[in-house]
Amino acid sequence: MAGTPRQRLDTSIPHPARVWDYWLGGNENFASDREVATLITEVMPDMPINARSERQFIGRCVGLLAGETGVDQFLDVGAGISNAGNTHLVAQKINPAARIVYVDNDPIVLIHARALMESTPDGAVDYLDADLRHPDPLLQAASETIDFSRPVGLMLLGVIEFVTDDTLALDAVHTLIDALSPGSYVAIASSMPSPGMRAAVDVWHARGGAPLVLRTPENLTRFFDGLDLLEPGVVSLPQWRPDTLTDYRDREVYQYGGVARKH
Ligand SMILES: C[S@@+](CC[C@H](N)C(=O)[O-])C[C@H]1O[C@@H](n2cnc3c(N)ncnc32)[C@H](O)[C@@H]1O
Repeated sequence: MAGTPRQRLDTSIPHPARVWDYWLGGNENFASDREVATLITEVMPDMPINARSERQFIGRCVGLLAGETGVDQFLDVGAGISNAGNTHLVAQKINPAARIVYVDNDPIVLIHARALMESTPDGAVDYLDADLRHPDPLLQAASETIDFSRPVGLMLLGVIEFVTDDTLALDAVHTLIDALSPGSYVAIASSMPSPGMRAAVDVWHARGGAPLVLRTPENLTRFFDGLDLLEPGVVSLPQWRPDTLTDYRDREVYQYGGVARKH
């Protein structure tokens, strides 16, 4: 990517990673991020719940993969700023030898990545400054840490909305899926259209935020084509295999997702 991370770090416009970090209760955000986050919650008060539901989904999903299925390698694209409940924290708690590659295209994520994403001695945590829209170089770089001849958990949480063109997004995701061996899993979550979400996106775009698109559950399901979608399918995140720690089960959460297995 052009420029050093600090040169690319423009704190005057809101960035998805930093706004998301704010809603998750983190400190890695600037005035422009907090301002737009506040404006968005005025039109969509449940927005922080979307972010927190996605974090909890990471916990249940990575818990299932690292625990029950024995997947010990994860490629987390659109990782965001490390926060409680990140993929490596969940996976390495279950399997200290787990290997995780995080990918994001936001320079602030890169700047904080090494400090925030510490591995266990037996496992590995790597970070790539790369872009979902360019999956081939992403895969090439990830293969330094991940062995693609063995199963991988591919995580695409809250990121496909930033690839607004459907064909480009489907092609990019399926290029990643094609590189996975049978027995791999794919988790995808994305924001859904609702009046509140549409108003939130309007605010986001008016303040110069990176273009994003809301996809319906049917549209999101197309990203799992060719895979075996696990029960209960593509659902509002708190409804995806909730456990005793799952919050917001009685709320309309417009962040949907699912998990599928490659056969
Ligand atoms: C809404 S946050 C989600 C963070 C985390 N996955 C979670 O679920 O809590 C979206 C993240 O995707 C990153 N992102 C957006 N477009 C991207 C792209 N084309 N390639 C890689 N990362 C991207 C943003 O920088 C941001 O960190």
